Amino acid sequence: MPLTGLKIGLIGGGAMGGALATGLVKSGRVPAGALLVSDVNVRCLRNLEETLGVRAFQDNEPVAGEADVVILAVKPDVVVPVLQGIGSLLRPEQTLISIAAGVPLVRLERNIPGPVPVVRVMPNTPCLVGAGASAYALGSNAGPRDAARAEAVFSSVGRVVAVKEVLLDAVTGLSGSGPAYIYLVIEALADGGVRMGLPRDVALVLAAQTVLGAARMVLETGEHPAQLKDRVTTPAGTTAAGLFVLEDRSVRAALAEAVRAAAARSRELSTGGNS
Ligand SMILES: NC(=O)c1ccc[n+]([C@@H]2O[C@H](COP(=O)([O-])OP(=O)(O)OC[C@H]3O[C@@H](n4cnc5c(N)ncnc54)[C@H](OP(=O)(O)O)[C@@H]3O)[C@@H](O)[C@H]2O)c1
Repeated sequence: MPLTGLKIGLIGGGAMGGALATGLVKSGRVPAGALLVSDVNVRCLRNLEETLGVRAFQDNEPVAGEADVVILAVKPDVVVPVLQGIGSLLRPEQTLISIAAGVPLVRLERNIPGPVPVVRVMPNTPCLVGAGASAYALGSNAGPRDAARAEAVFSSVGRVVAVKEVLLDAVTGLSGSGPAYIYLVIEALADGGVRMGLPRDVALVLAAQTVLGAARMVLETGEHPAQLKDRVTTPAGTTAAGLFVLEDRSVRAALAEAVRAAAARSRELSTGGNS
């Protein structure tokens, strides 16, 4: 769905809000003048105003009142107070998108007086470089128009999929926390290269580019990773020797267990709040 003609509002222009603003403007899908950002942090706000040319506000009300799509990008503990401040301005023809981790749709809806469509999204930090992985779930008043709006926004900063809300903890455990797992993998691969004599900077570029290349092969060929792996594993060859070590040290099980642990922690954190 094109975002043409729609005004996009961001409440909170910090790490994720700023990444979204940058991605939206750079994608060319939203002209800077149609992007409204509010933040209590004047430094953040001025930076976005000067670098992107967005319309910047120190109060949330003008953004909530004017934008067609209002994206809540404040920390989870400020979401309810922010909603209590802007809730009466929101209208059913708008779409409210929350990216706050662990704040359920029911809690968002409970803090808005009218039947405003709400979408909950879990993005990740590679949105900063247009390579984010986001998943969204629709609230009780949201329909296909709101899904299309959410997809248009988040596809401009990476890939986006729809899931049931109950799966957002799993999403947090996989793609939300996943960049950190892969940073660790990249660092470890680079350490291995250094151990075998490569200069540190060369090893790091080779490691990161290898992860990027493998990810693109999976996404762009559509082939199963096992097929891609088998194709580069010559009998009695170098890759087979390396793979045996990874399987022997249970790397596969460790990564799967990391996703489970992070998803469980996400669920614990989201059931901790009750306002
Ligand atoms: N960063 C991530 O990797 C990531 C990934 C997925 C989801 N998220 C979600 O994204 C949301 C934002 O996270 P973030 O990392 O971008 O946080 P952040 O960098 O702290 O940005 C939030 C911004 O909102 C401002 N703010 C605070 N109270 C406000 C208010 N009442 N009205 C308007 N603006 C207000 C903050 O100002 P001050 O700095 O002055 O407080 C800050 O500039 C969170 O809910 C988080 O769960 C983040």
